[in-house]
Amino acid sequence: MSKENIKKHHFKVTRKERQQLNGHNSFLIWITGLSGSGKSTIANGLEEYLHKIGVRTYVLDGDNIRHGINDNLTFSPEDRSENIRRIGEISKLFIDAGCVVIGTFISPYQKDRQKVKRIVAPSNFVEVFVNTSIEECERRDVKGLYKKARSGEIPNFTGISAPYEAPENADIEIKTETEDIEEAIFKIADFIKEKLKYN
Ligand code: PPS
Repeated sequence: MSKENIKKHHFKVTRKERQQLNGHNSFLIWITGLSGSGKSTIANGLEEYLHKIGVRTYVLDGDNIRHGINDNLTFSPEDRSENIRRIGEISKLFIDAGCVVIGTFISPYQKDRQKVKRIVAPSNFVEVFVNTSIEECERRDVKGLYKKARSGEIPNFTGISAPYEAPENADIEIKTETEDIEEAIFKIADFIKEKLKYN
């Protein structure tokens, strides 16, 4: 659609000023991994930690977003891309509002994760790969979805009947089969320590 008749407004209070008021920078921590890999648990623990030290946070989570703004999207490759694109745009708004956003989505395609990175700007994007093997995710099967995927009840299920492209250069990699939640939170917190500092 042509943007000819749509002009952007510029408001007086800037992102910098919002960040200054909050006392920290704002950016996106993107947590990718298979279903049941531990993404939401890590996001939850990380948010709790950051909140306690006075950081303004917000978690955007796959299941939650798909119940609301993205409730019209399926798990086809095209709809997953649109899902991730919209989340990228939403994240950009939250960053503008001065928040540290924690996005937890399977986001199975490399190109879609790269798109989010471009939308929010590369310097505002921290990629966390929750590297839990498909065997372990299926063994855990917390929501019973792998069983349904194996029986054919759920089509296009990531890792079973749909692909997952693992990140090649994630900023942080977490192996939940050998690391516990505290170690995972510490790793991320340590990585973003300098990034948080407002200057
Ligand atoms: S994606 O691929 O990034 O668009 O997926 P996302 O928005 O993160 O949603 C993942 C959650 O949806 C549930 N679910 C499925 N996952 C993968 N494949 C299929 N076909 C599917 N159908 C439903 C599942 O609960 C995912 O949540 P998590 O927290 O990842 O287990």
